[in-house]
Amino acid sequence: MPGQAQHRLTVVVLAGVTILLAALTLHARRQTSDMIVLKLAHGLDSTHPVHISMEYMAKRVFEKSGGGMRIDIFPSEQLGSERECTEQVQLGSLDMTKSSTTALEPFIPEMGVFTLPYMFRDSEHYWEVVNGEIGDEILAAGLPVGLHGLCYFDAGSRSFYATHPIESPADFRGKKIRVQQSPTAMAMIHALGGAPTPIPFGELYTALQQGVVDGAENNAPSLLTSRHYEVAKYFALNEHAYVPDALIMSEVVWRNLPPDAQRHLAEAADEAAVFQRDLWAKMSAEAIETLKEAGVTVTHPDKQPFVDAVRPMLSAPKHPAVERLVQKILAQ
Ligand code: GCU
Repeated sequence: MPGQAQHRLTVVVLAGVTILLAALTLHARRQTSDMIVLKLAHGLDSTHPVHISMEYMAKRVFEKSGGGMRIDIFPSEQLGSERECTEQVQLGSLDMTKSSTTALEPFIPEMGVFTLPYMFRDSEHYWEVVNGEIGDEILAAGLPVGLHGLCYFDAGSRSFYATHPIESPADFRGKKIRVQQSPTAMAMIHALGGAPTPIPFGELYTALQQGVVDGAENNAPSLLTSRHYEVAKYFALNEHAYVPDALIMSEVVWRNLPPDAQRHLAEAADEAAVFQRDLWAKMSAEAIETLKEAGVTVTHPDKQPFVDAVRPMLSAPKHPAVERLVQKILAQ
């Protein structure tokens, strides 16, 4: 009967389509499960040069792996503060993070050496250290605590900004100054005569706005992209520290990656670090101009009173590993 035959044909066709769909789904699933997807979280804005450089790294990883590896980036503390992200990376529940080396000090004491004020003679001295044996040694110091350092990113020099003008350390008296969660950063504000207040970067805008703190310190691109300048209009370029950012991977996750994936990632991170240094130079010069145009008072205070106030920090007792690094850096 034509009716029955038609019905049987429909059933056969439907069964065929179902099998085909199942096969396609399986194939797609296999493809997704074959693809390595890494999650990278950090606290900076997506317009920040460090974020842009990590996007570049993600693009290079994708290309190098022939589409077999992807990095999904979550900016602006979406997955937590630098401290929280680093904790997740240690556990392996987050694959990668990018943190200021200052915020890494509680995990890796050696990282604290960058936060020591006026540690480096100039930016050449700083780059020799960062790109040399000492920089490698500091990155590798995270391994025993599950933090696999991939590269550094330039974060320029840090200077103070506040809701009041800053000309000398006398202007810190009685003032609350936000610091990153680092014993060395706390000690620096004490040495300058202020009251250090540790606050995650993402909470700082409101803290400045509501007068919880009177000032903070950072580089120009971070001051600009965080929009802190809207509520703290005095930026004094005293350049007390060169503190790089570091790209950190979970050692557990790293060890479980196939060798070619490790290679693609390491190469892409190195390429991103080179790319970032150029981008940083351009964007940090532009940031100063944009800040001025936005009504920020940018000054160049005499650095000597700042240097004198924090000098005792260099000879104060330190973690033995940090002490050794200080001596090495001074001798370089
Ligand atoms: C810099 C650094 C960030 C850090 C911030 C801070 O902007 O790049 O990683 O979070 O300083 O002061 O917390």
